[in-house]
Order: sequence, then structure tokens, then C-alpha cells
Amino acid sequence: MVFRVKQGSLIEQPCDVLIVNLFQGVKVPGGGTGAVDKALGGIISETIRDEEFEGRLGEILVVRGCDAIPAKKVLVVGLGKREEFDIRRIMQAAGAAGRKCREMRARSVASILHGAGIGGLDAFNCAKAVVLGTILGTYEFTRLKTQDVKENPIRDFQIVELSAEKINSIEQGIQRAQVLGDAITFARDLANEPSNIVTPSYLADLAEQIAAETGMQCRIKDRKAIEESGMGLLAAVARGASVEPRFIEIVYESPNAQRKVAIVGKGITFDTGGHSLKPADAMYGMKDDMSGAAAVLATMRAIGRLKPEISVVGLIPATENAISEAAIHPGDVFTSYSGKTVEINNTDAEGRLILADAVSYAVKQGFDEIVDVATLTGACVIALGRDMAGIFGNNQKLVDRLLRAGASCGEQLWQLPLHSDYKEDLKSEVADLKNTAGREAAAINGALFIESFVENVPWAHIDLSSAMVDEDTHLAKKGCTGVGTGTLIEYLLES
Ligand code: BES
Ligand code: MN
Ligand code: ZN
Repeated sequence: MVFRVKQGSLIEQPCDVLIVNLFQGVKVPGGGTGAVDKALGGIISETIRDEEFEGRLGEILVVRGCDAIPAKKVLVVGLGKREEFDIRRIMQAAGAAGRKCREMRARSVASILHGAGIGGLDAFNCAKAVVLGTILGTYEFTRLKTQDVKENPIRDFQIVELSAEKINSIEQGIQRAQVLGDAITFARDLANEPSNIVTPSYLADLAEQIAAETGMQCRIKDRKAIEESGMGLLAAVARGASVEPRFIEIVYESPNAQRKVAIVGKGITFDTGGHSLKPADAMYGMKDDMSGAAAVLATMRAIGRLKPEISVVGLIPATENAISEAAIHPGDVFTSYSGKTVEINNTDAEGRLILADAVSYAVKQGFDEIVDVATLTGACVIALGRDMAGIFGNNQKLVDRLLRAGASCGEQLWQLPLHSDYKEDLKSEVADLKNTAGREAAAINGALFIESFVENVPWAHIDLSSAMVDEDTHLAKKGCTGVGTGTLIEYLLES
């Protein structure tokens, strides 16, 4: 898809599908939609009057064009309630409209700029939301199908805007959205690939390839190097796996950087639970347990291409959590990279173990900020559902920046408390720490476990409950969402 802006009038735009919009409950459309309605002889307002279309979020009305306009079809998408309108609503409406255009086999699409001028939204952010929503809404994971694949037919997508002074901002918004969309779909592809393809060494090879393409450094540790470096918790989780683990480090440095940031992604390429085995239903889907790693790789790829004035290192501890004779047993004790000993009372709480070593490694290297992204707990899914990710942190300014970054690209984050009283529950009778403290507050306890390795460095942890959706949404087909990628890129570029 090629995205462009065109200065001009919607009713003069030749295209297969022309997208306009309607707020829920509006009886007589105004603005661009109103102009199109008039050109069509009032068919849109007539349909609204007949109560066949009310503008609910993502609701779609398609009408045939007529001699008065060069568009072959007109698609009206519902924006939902005006009082709920924001960046994410624009993305959702654009996603729904884009998917419908894909289904209608449209090759050229022209769209109104949803939302500009409403509720303080500027042209840059509206254009960004329209394009990002379109990219995400039309995404499908088809790589592994050999039959019945319908490629995305949309070649040309134009935002049509009358006002000359908005054109530049719209262009900028389109550019940012393409960076984000490209990265998020890259992360989706990677997370959607199954564990027999995406192994730790696959991730490492990909990291090396990305680094080589963009002129970044890449350092990889194999099983032996992981063990020798003292990453005892990553090594412990990897013991049960026949596929070889990797510790991946991608380094991007800018000479003008004010600060050094580490982003850390959980890279469990499959999570069986280990001896604390998951039941079959819960195990299915655990190919997505490297969604954090996918977000970090996609982010580093985008950063390597954009070359902003920051220094960022992407760290990915990668292994399967599997069972074999060599696999760790509940109750085993291992020494972490930090030197602290950990009793592994539940082998299914493996994410925090590998992240603890990665975070300690970042602390030792002297980073100013650490952000980890991880599919850490089922409890976070229970708390927030699959439409939001949980965020924790020891530094409110850092958390606020990440909240803003997420909101600006439709990745909803909800802050959960790092309630320090619960730290008591992670004390072990036989070691310094144990890795779980039962069912209650499990998302918080996971975060607190990681926090005990960050040594007061500003740190935030995003528990990616929205990494996978089990039904289609306006912005994602059933499957992996690539969430975390947009937040990380916006956070790195904007702060
Ligand atoms: N990868 C899972 C968390 C997960 C499960 C995320 C389902 C999304 C959907 C993680 O490794 C895990 O198994 N966590 C345990 C922790 C528990 C043992 C304290 C969980 O959530 O059950
Ligand atoms: Mn697990
Ligand atoms: Zn896991």
C-alpha cells in the first residue's frame, strides 16, 4: 500500500472506494460526508433516516457512486460516540473501513481525514491514526497458507484534504504511521510464526541480519556463553530445551545521545510450563510467548533505520520453556546474574527468571532507563482483558511517558500498582527469593520479582496481556497483535 495526501475535494476524487464517516446519532451529515451525501442525492441521510445506519464504531454503509462523483463506491464508516472520540477511535474506524475495502477488492482508496479539528486532535495525529489503523486493520498473517490466499488488493490510499495548510502535517503523520505500521506488522509476523519455525537461534539470526542491514552492533551468547557469563536463571530455564537458547543484544548508538536506554523483551519461543506443566488448553497459543522479543526486535529495526539521537540497546533472553530429563524441578535453586539465589517453586513462572538476568545485565552496563515488555502473566489477562496491557514502574515520570507513547498509537496501557508490601511473599525459606507467591496479585508479584533486580534504575515493565486476541477486532485479526512495538518506538522517538 502506498499512502499519500492529496489536496482537493472528496467529491472530485477518482477511486474504487471513497471513505467518509459519521458520528453515532448524527442525523444530517456535515463537512466532507455532507458534501458527498449531497452529490449522491441524499442517499446517506436517507439511509440514516430509515434507521439502517447509525454510525456505531466500525459500522459500515456502502453505496454505489453516481455520475456526479468519480468514486465508484462510497463507504461510510461509523466513528462511534462523539464523547468517546480519540486517536484509538480513529484507528478503529480506519481499520474497519480498510478491512472492508480489502474484502471489496478495492485497488485505489481515497479517505476523508477522520477527526481533524475535533477534541484538540491535530492533522498530524489524525493522519497518523488513519494510516496506522488502515495498515493494522488490513493485516493478515498468510505466510503459511498455500491455498485460498487473497492478497491485500489495495495499492493506493490517499487522504484527501481541502485545506492547504494541513497538507504538510498530514504528510508527516503518514510518514510516522508507516514507520509504526511497518514495525508492528513485522512484530505480528514474527509472533504469529509457530515455535517450530521461530526458535531462539532464529531470533538471533534475525537480530544479526537486522543489525547488519542497518549498521548496528549485535552480540549473541549461546548456551555455553550464557552459562559462563553467570546468567544462571536463563540457563536454568533453558536446561529442559533441546533447541539452543540465545542471549541477544542489539546495540544502537548515536554520538549525540543524552541518555542510554535498554529495552528488554521476553523471548520464550514456546512455554509448556515445564514440570509445572500447563493444561492443554492453556498451552495452545504459547508460541506467542516471545511477543516481547518481537516488539524489541521490531523496535530496534525501526530505530536502526531512522537513526534518532538516542542510544538504545535491545536485550532478548531467548529459550523454550520445555520438559526433558534435564529440565529444572520445582524447588530447585539457582544463582542469578546479580548473585541473588532464587528458588524456582513454579517452573511456569519462567519469564520473570530470564528477564531478571537480562535486567541485571542492563543494570551492570549502566543504562539510565530500562523498559521490559513481556507476556508475563495470565493474571494480567484476567485483570485487563486482551485490549489493554498492564504497566508497572518504579519511576512515575517514565511510566507517564510510556502511557503517553501508548495512547498516541492506540496501544492502551493501564498502570497497576507495584505494591511493595507483597515483596514479603516472594521471600523463600531456602534461598533469597522464590519466583512465585500463589494466585493472588500474580501480575503484581511478577513485576515485583523483576523489580528486585533493577537496583533503583528507572524501570518500567509492560505485561503484554494484549499480545494475542482470540477473536477479530477492528485493528487485528485473531492472532498476535505486535503490541508493545508502537509504544516502544513512540517512547524512544518522543522523549
Ligand atoms: N507466558 C505465561 C503468561 C501468560 C499466560 C500470558 C497466558 C498470556 C496468556 C507465563 O510464563 C506464565 O505461565 N505465567 C504463570 C505465572 C504463575 C505460575 C505465577 C501464569 O500466569 O499462570
Ligand atoms: Mn510460563
Ligand atoms: Zn511464559
